[in-house]
Amino acid sequence: MNNLEGYMAKIALITGANKGIGFETARQLGQKGFTVLVGARDRQRGQKAVDILISEKINAQLIEIDPSNSDSIQKAVTAVESQFGLLDVLINNAGTMSQADHASPASVPLTAFRETYELNVFALHEVTKAFWDLLNKSNAARLVNVSSALGSLTLHSNGSMGDFKVIAYDSSKAAVNMMTIHYAYQWKGTPHKANTIHPGSVKTDLNINGEITVEEGAKTSVELATIANDGPNGKFFHLGKELPW
Ligand SMILES: NC(=O)c1ccc[n+]([C@@H]2O[C@H](COP(=O)([O-])OP(=O)(O)OC[C@H]3O[C@@H](n4cnc5c(N)ncnc54)[C@H](OP(=O)(O)O)[C@@H]3O)[C@@H](O)[C@H]2O)c1
Repeated sequence: MNNLEGYMAKIALITGANKGIGFETARQLGQKGFTVLVGARDRQRGQKAVDILISEKINAQLIEIDPSNSDSIQKAVTAVESQFGLLDVLINNAGTMSQADHASPASVPLTAFRETYELNVFALHEVTKAFWDLLNKSNAARLVNVSSALGSLTLHSNGSMGDFKVIAYDSSKAAVNMMTIHYAYQWKGTPHKANTIHPGSVKTDLNINGEITVEEGAKTSVELATIANDGPNGKFFHLGKELPW
């Protein structure tokens, strides 16, 4: 698919893009000329999001993908491969926090851990693994893992995160950070880049008390999805600033 200047538009897949930060990330990448594949586990919710983007003249299309379902992931890979033959940007954005996580550590049930890790950690790995070959077919792939400052061991241990402690979510995002370092290591010395980001405290369904808008919250994902070939690899960012592990 050619864009107006006659070169191939870059292809970006964002998981959990039917709403919240993921939707806004799709919009901002679309505004930059990307072909955006709006990843959604629910066809109707996903199509609704795509229709909005198309009405804004964004080149968007739905990719049905439930990151926690292997068959769904494989179907999504087949769809992207047959239509585009490669993937330039993968943003692992879908994430969850369990209500039961809002408790003292020893009171958090194992079910909350399983539910959180299923999407935030295991699904993120399965989606990345499944799209790895297509990413490597890009001439400059970008993997962006949406983590959280809550996944920073340093910021929790030095007191910067205050009393907000959700053990399953926080540890799942710490795992995402470590996984990103490993994917990035695999791409060392190549034009490909893998980084992890904190979007900020963003007002969404996941964080109803969020302090910033989705427009601000999507900026860091977009920034890392569009970094140059001499940009960072294996780092943790928020709005242009590197965060500590
Ligand atoms: N908001 C914040 O302040 C904040 C701060 C730091 C990090 N983050 C991270 O930012 C990312 C996006 O969060 P958000 O605030 O935009 O949340 P959101 O508005 O609740 O959107 C979450 C997205 O993930 C999908 N999703 C949720 N649970 C799922 C599941 N079990 N299986 C498959 N997909 C699922 C949702 O799909 P459905 O609509 O189908 O449920 C939706 O598309 C997450 O990784 C989150 O951890 C957010």
